[in-house]
Amino acid sequence: MLLEVKNLHVEIDGKAILNGLDLTIEQGQVAAIMGPNGSGKSTLAYVLAGKPNYEVTQGEVLFDGANILDMEPDERAAKGLFLAFQYPVEIPGVATMTFLRTALNAQRKARGEAEFSTPDFMRRVRETSAHLGIDQEMLRRAVNVGFSGGEKKRNEIMQMAMLEPRLAVLDETDSGLDIDALKIVADGVNRLRSPKRSTVVITHYQRLLNYIVPDVVHVMSKGRVVKSGGKELALELEAKGYAQFQDEVAA
Ligand SMILES: Nc1ncnc2c1ncn2[C@@H]1O[C@H](COP(=O)(O)OP(=O)(O)OP(=O)(O)O)[C@@H](O)[C@H]1O
Ligand SMILES: [Mg+2]
Repeated sequence: MLLEVKNLHVEIDGKAILNGLDLTIEQGQVAAIMGPNGSGKSTLAYVLAGKPNYEVTQGEVLFDGANILDMEPDERAAKGLFLAFQYPVEIPGVATMTFLRTALNAQRKARGEAEFSTPDFMRRVRETSAHLGIDQEMLRRAVNVGFSGGEKKRNEIMQMAMLEPRLAVLDETDSGLDIDALKIVADGVNRLRSPKRSTVVITHYQRLLNYIVPDVVHVMSKGRVVKSGGKELALELEAKGYAQFQDEVAA
């Protein structure tokens, strides 16, 4: 078991957002999380990554058996947790290449591994950006500054591919992507598929799941996982919408 979320309750400014969420992600699994707007999907991703101002009032989150709620965001990242943001942040004044190198080497250092030499790093950047159809010129620009919506999402996948996380959480990485970019991003995720790695794909669209075929689909509603099933659950949602699951919660 790579990730175990048990009875997680989270508040923001005294407002309950997650209400007893249970979720298990196995090693090697690709899981999709779907659910209506405001059901708490991004909140879950942020709490896993360690974004401040989310108050965990109950429950626990075990990553590889360790309680990560006590860890700083960078410790979590060094342990192999990665979040691709729904709304990627701009970092003016920091070149994308520099950012990648700093993040990668900081994580390697924290794990007691040697830092990448410049030639090794550059080779990895070249290979990874080529696979993802990312122009080298973009990597010289400040992180996400002036990037189009789709370029930001690709840049998130570039970070993921460079960092090779054990658990990647992709929050609506498909939104705003044209069909070619969608395939490239899906390919980037599929390329990292391995028995040692897991991915959580948060999406509203069944379409993405044709390219990234999930092992399991979880449906969130009102701050909880209310239904889990196979990939056919995504098709069922596409056909019927979320009303049935929201009723189940109310019942
Ligand atoms: N900082 C905040 N202050 C107050 N309420 C918040 C805050 N952040 C999130 N919420 C509320 O928490 C709920 C869950 O938000 P969240 O962003 O997790 O939903 P989501 O499932 O990711 O939705 P979407 O599909 O639209 O991205 C929403 O009702 C939202 O308004
Ligand atoms: Mg969201």
